[in-house]
Amino acid sequence: MNILEIIGKKRDSKELTKEEIDYFVNNYTNGEITDYQASALVMAIYINGMTIEETTNLTLAMAHSGDILDLSEVGNVVDKHSTGGVGDKVTLILMPICAALGCKVAKMSGRGLGVTGGTKDKLEAIPGYKTEISIDEFIKNVNKIGISLIGQTLNLAPADKKLYALRDAINCTANIPLIASSIMSKKIASGANKLVLDVTCGSGAFMQNIEDAEELSKTMINIGKLANKETVCIITNMDQPLGRMVGNTLEVIEAIEALKGNMDEDVKNVVLELGAYILKLDGKGNDIEKNKKLIEEVIVNGKAYNKFLELISNQDGDISYIENYNKFEKSKYKLEVKSSISGYVHNLNAFKVGQIASLLGAGRQRKEDEIDYSVGIELLKKVGDKVQEQETLAYIYANDEQKGKQAVIDLQKAYLISAENVEKPKDILEIITFIKKSSLI
Ligand code: URA
Repeated sequence: MNILEIIGKKRDSKELTKEEIDYFVNNYTNGEITDYQASALVMAIYINGMTIEETTNLTLAMAHSGDILDLSEVGNVVDKHSTGGVGDKVTLILMPICAALGCKVAKMSGRGLGVTGGTKDKLEAIPGYKTEISIDEFIKNVNKIGISLIGQTLNLAPADKKLYALRDAINCTANIPLIASSIMSKKIASGANKLVLDVTCGSGAFMQNIEDAEELSKTMINIGKLANKETVCIITNMDQPLGRMVGNTLEVIEAIEALKGNMDEDVKNVVLELGAYILKLDGKGNDIEKNKKLIEEVIVNGKAYNKFLELISNQDGDISYIENYNKFEKSKYKLEVKSSISGYVHNLNAFKVGQIASLLGAGRQRKEDEIDYSVGIELLKKVGDKVQEQETLAYIYANDEQKGKQAVIDLQKAYLISAENVEKPKDILEIITFIKKSSLI
């Protein structure tokens, strides 16, 4: 067997065997297969697709490319993962909430991919916070305070780690078999027994329409069944960015405010829905509406915010930045984006917003690029909002004046303002579940 034959097979739309997929994953992980050969194969998969058997084999091969974490000493662990979005700071808000409600949170998060942001980058915007710790420390933290959030830094699904960065660098991110295997391999390796997956859908997501989002959900649920992991997929709207901040430090600040109860409606709807299902799978209650109330309670009584502080300090983050977020380094320029007409915001293209934030430095153009934590976008107006001519739509935070000025022009174009009144879009589009009957007792 050799990699050239495997690339050739996929290039010619043929189905790969389990042995061929194992060969590719093992030899790419150990460096025998080069990045350019892997790029060719990934591009062929992107163009010609994979069957469900191939996708499952790729998932299992990637899951077993490193250690498989045994979290049995921690107990029931319900993990959450998002397929990625623009302004998606849900993990930062939701996981401390779940820990405050007694769930065990052991979560591994990725860095930004394409125009979508990554929780690892956001956590690293907090001075001192360590996303790279040993497995022992990770488990110790979960046992001690009920929560640990880390990057994909342990030897867990290392094949996915390499492929994830490669896909980002060759524009092969938005693909159902590649996303499903990437997410599910990490989840299998990181030892959680149940999963709540936020499948984002719209211009700022990898899945641009509901049919694709459903297919991705069903693919992941299928893999969940095979791996014996109860899985809930919640399809959420990502046609416009989630919340009002896009950019790493800015999103951390928005998350801090959210944990103090100041949450935009769209963020709140997503946090409550995902959280209610996490509580259900964790055995904290079957009634979704009651679970949402429990979540609101720990926000109001400060337990969720305190758990966030505990999480940050336990992983060596400087909590003085959380307690006084004015301490975060600010961008040099804050530029206003104004509306040239009066009317209603009809559309705010999330992909374009993500692209603008990324060009400002909030994301990477190449896989080795450094992130600029302080740059990004603050959205004052979103779909359905009324605006007056010359009213501020948004602010651009930039460290390079030219890039900032270009971002102002580009963001103006990302807004579509029309005379007709527009309804606010739905935040939760569909829920697809695989929950065993025995769990509902
Ligand atoms: N999140 C992942 O972990 N992998 C993907 O491919 C996309 C989103």
